[in-house]
Amino acid sequence: MTMPFQQCWTRKLSHGFCVAVTLPVGFGAAQYPLPGDLTKEEVATALAMAPLRRVSWVGGRVALRLAARELGFSLATIGATTRGAPSLPDGLIGSISHKSCLAVAVAKRAQGDTVGVDLEQLARPRPRIAKLVLRSDERACVDALDPASQWKEIVLRFSLKEAIFKAIDPHVQRYVGFKEARVEPKEDGTAEIWLELKEKEGPFELDGRWMVVDGCVLSSVRARCVRKTVVNPSHHTQPHYTKYRVGRRRFFSLKTKKLE
Ligand SMILES: CC(C)(COP(=O)(O)OP(=O)(O)OC[C@H]1O[C@@H](n2cnc3c(N)ncnc32)[C@H](O)[C@@H]1OP(=O)(O)O)[C@@H](O)C(=O)NCCC(=O)NCCS
Repeated sequence: MTMPFQQCWTRKLSHGFCVAVTLPVGFGAAQYPLPGDLTKEEVATALAMAPLRRVSWVGGRVALRLAARELGFSLATIGATTRGAPSLPDGLIGSISHKSCLAVAVAKRAQGDTVGVDLEQLARPRPRIAKLVLRSDERACVDALDPASQWKEIVLRFSLKEAIFKAIDPHVQRYVGFKEARVEPKEDGTAEIWLELKEKEGPFELDGRWMVVDGCVLSSVRARCVRKTVVNPSHHTQPHYTKYRVGRRRFFSLKTKKLE
């Protein structure tokens, strides 16, 4: 059995190197000794946190440090940006996600892109979340599936959207609602992504991937802002609707239609 705060699996993803770290669970989890590979500043930050939050925060830092090490980076303190994302040195991008017993992190050499990762447990179906996180056209796709497959489909779409949020947040720097994106996971572990951003940021080139590991959905999204969209406020435009075919054959298109 893997001890808490130890690496339990790694994956070489299309969007970087991913490391998963086990978290202490159950009574006494919060009292579990902090791992030795935190910096003094990280220890001080962790000790100031509420006990349960401390566990996941520390697990995320341990996972990200291990993932970065795989790429040859020896990380000093991993702080947080004002938006809550992990702050990393130039040349490196990364993202963190955690659930009760596991923390994952992806690290990647920066190539003018950003990355988001998300982990969601498949256990304990809560299909009611579909209303909150899926658009009506997505819900229709889910409803058309065999009932036994519906929960996994909801989790996939939810997880990909959280990964999209983390990947585009450095560019948009605002809360992006779940209905501002439409995703369609494909059997081969890719996904089609459409963005309909209220503030018309972008356009973005997005690449989304997913897999199931140990009863969890692991999603990652890489984003690249193709060019800044200059919106002329005197033009009333329909929301621009950008379609991305994600996977081996990738393209994007942008339609901005002027209202008559
Ligand atoms: C921010 C958010 C995505 C985090 O997801 P979550 O499932 O609650 O938590 P996770 O464990 O997956 O991720 C938490 C980690 O995300 C990272 N994170 C937090 N805010 C972030 C941001 N603005 N940008 C990038 N990463 C962020 C942090 O590393 C955090 O862990 P840490 O604080 O321990 O370092 C989520 O809380 C949220 O606000 N979602 C609503 C918006 C959304 O997803 N819209 C979909 C648009 S398509």
